[in-house]
Amino acid sequence: MTWLVTGGAGYIGAHVAHAMVDAGLDVVALDNLSSGHRAFLPDTVPLGWVSVTDQDDVRDVMEENDITGVVHLAAFKYAGESVKQPLKTWRQNLGGTVAVLGAMQELGIDRLVFSSTAAVYGTPETELVTEDTPTHPESPYGSSKLAAERAIIEQAAAQRSVGKQLRHTALRYFNVVGSSAPGVYDSSPHNLFPLVMDAIARGDAPRIFGTDYDTPDGTCVRDYVHVADVAAAHVVAAQALDRREDLRTVYNLGSGTGTSVREIVNTCIDVAGAELEPVLTGRRAGDPARIVASGKRASYDLEWQMRHSVRDMVASAWAAHPRSGATR
Ligand SMILES: NC(=O)c1ccc[n+]([C@@H]2O[C@H](COP(=O)([O-])OP(=O)(O)OC[C@H]3O[C@@H](n4cnc5c(N)ncnc54)[C@H](O)[C@@H]3O)[C@@H](O)[C@H]2O)c1
Repeated sequence: MTWLVTGGAGYIGAHVAHAMVDAGLDVVALDNLSSGHRAFLPDTVPLGWVSVTDQDDVRDVMEENDITGVVHLAAFKYAGESVKQPLKTWRQNLGGTVAVLGAMQELGIDRLVFSSTAAVYGTPETELVTEDTPTHPESPYGSSKLAAERAIIEQAAAQRSVGKQLRHTALRYFNVVGSSAPGVYDSSPHNLFPLVMDAIARGDAPRIFGTDYDTPDGTCVRDYVHVADVAAAHVVAAQALDRREDLRTVYNLGSGTGTSVREIVNTCIDVAGAELEPVLTGRRAGDPARIVASGKRASYDLEWQMRHSVRDMVASAWAAHPRSGATR
């Protein structure tokens, strides 16, 4: 049994690939290296250097490597950017998923773990987002991921109607941070962690937008989860599908509690040993006070747990950060 990890040279995909290898699974990666790095992958993992949007190329990689299951992470993941580039977002995120499903159907591959996002919920009014919270995506990123989930469900139903199983699940997560694989870091130019760490590495004070929210310390509260915990849930899902167990169509990998932006920024400064005070500025338009998801359902079926503290998240991210001086 061999698993294909699309987007396997990316930040989360590489962690998933490392975790699968560590769990004794055979892994092949598929990635066009548009934002990923070959060096992120374990040396033993072959890379199919093709686009996930080309069904023929995807099928060839699957066929050549006797793939039996797919973890599909390759995507354009920037919610803000997706508003400026909706067509690119839909092509990558829905088009890529359709190509993966098509290639799987051609070859009779019947296991799929899909990397979704809590952006499908938009700005929920509830204290704690669960899988039953209504979906209201607010960007092409969130909409395209939700549509991709739907495409998977409809394809599985169609296959079932002709006696062919497609076992699948979608994992929805918010802010994935930290590092647990050597030299693998989040290189996103738009996420809080890389932005704060880049600022600290330059000797600049990181900025906090808004300190008058109705939250314990006045700054926004967000759902941060350690990438090692996220990767572990992908492995457990893949193993369950290998055992032919049915999983729920959707799981939130949520922290249940959340962390304030001030706590993250202060911990980053502390871990880096920097003598900096965050710059407190006004609110940014459209930033909700709190978005936190429950990971309860995943804790039952996917052994989901927050095994790492905020300090673990920050310290491991800082150690892997290219300019922290800690790793290179
Ligand atoms: N980072 C987060 O906080 C977060 C949160 C929720 C969901 N996600 C989802 O997790 C997945 C991985 O995100 P990440 O943070 O590792 O991002 P990333 O940009 O580091 O990884 C994406 C990978 O996909 C590859 N890729 C992109 N388009 C491709 C294409 N057309 N063909 C082949 N490969 C392609 C990139 O080269 C990259 O290696 C994405 O699906 C994203 O939507 C991420």
